[in-house]
Amino acid sequence: MVAALVSGEPEAVVVGGGVRVPRLARVVVDGDGAGGAGLEWVRGPVLVTGGTGGLGHVVARHLVVERGVRELLLVSRRGPAAEGVEGLVAELSEAGARVSVEACDVADAAAVADLVARHGVGAVVHSAGVLDDGTVESLTPERLAGVLRPKVDAAWNLHEATK
Ligand SMILES: NC(=O)c1ccc[n+]([C@@H]2O[C@H](COP(=O)([O-])OP(=O)(O)OC[C@H]3O[C@@H](n4cnc5c(N)ncnc54)[C@H](OP(=O)(O)O)[C@@H]3O)[C@@H](O)[C@H]2O)c1
Repeated sequence: MVAALVSGEPEAVVVGGGVRVPRLARVVVDGDGAGGAGLEWVRGPVLVTGGTGGLGHVVARHLVVERGVRELLLVSRRGPAAEGVEGLVAELSEAGARVSVEACDVADAAAVADLVARHGVGAVVHSAGVLDDGTVESLTPERLAGVLRPKVDAAWNLHEATK
């Protein structure tokens, strides 16, 4: 207990007479490449929700250029009608990926189930979201619901559809 107190760590646990502190460390995985630089183990397209948005664009480019992903499924409510889609597809195609863009409200469970089944999705990055920041006093149940819908409901839908 004394060792934990003088350790200077903001968080510690005493287990079996030893002091343990939380640390993040890189895990080495051998075998099929999972955890390595590439995502060769992914079968089927990587679904990027909000893939036509700012964060989605960055993630999509990272997956193709840094992680060797060759098949992408970019999804948002506007889908192909979203601003800048042509340029985005051209950029990712040039980098070596086959890119599909589809309109889908990921907060809609049936639509997500259909999307995942039709495309045989191999992995998901959920970056769709709606921003409605405000101070706590200005938040209403409606504003919270509007933000949580594409985040939490959609994350659950994606979980269910990819089980
Ligand atoms: N950019 C950052 O630095 C940053 C940092 C931390 C957190 N975030 C969070 O990450 C999320 C994305 O940020 P961003 O900057 O990329 O925003 P953004 O450019 O507005 O992109 C959001 C994307 O999500 C899509 N989307 C929203 N609701 C959807 C739904 N129900 N179903 C399918 N697609 C939906 C939007 O397209 P449609 O409108 O066509 O559906 C858009 O493509 C936000 O929640 C944001 O709060 C962003």
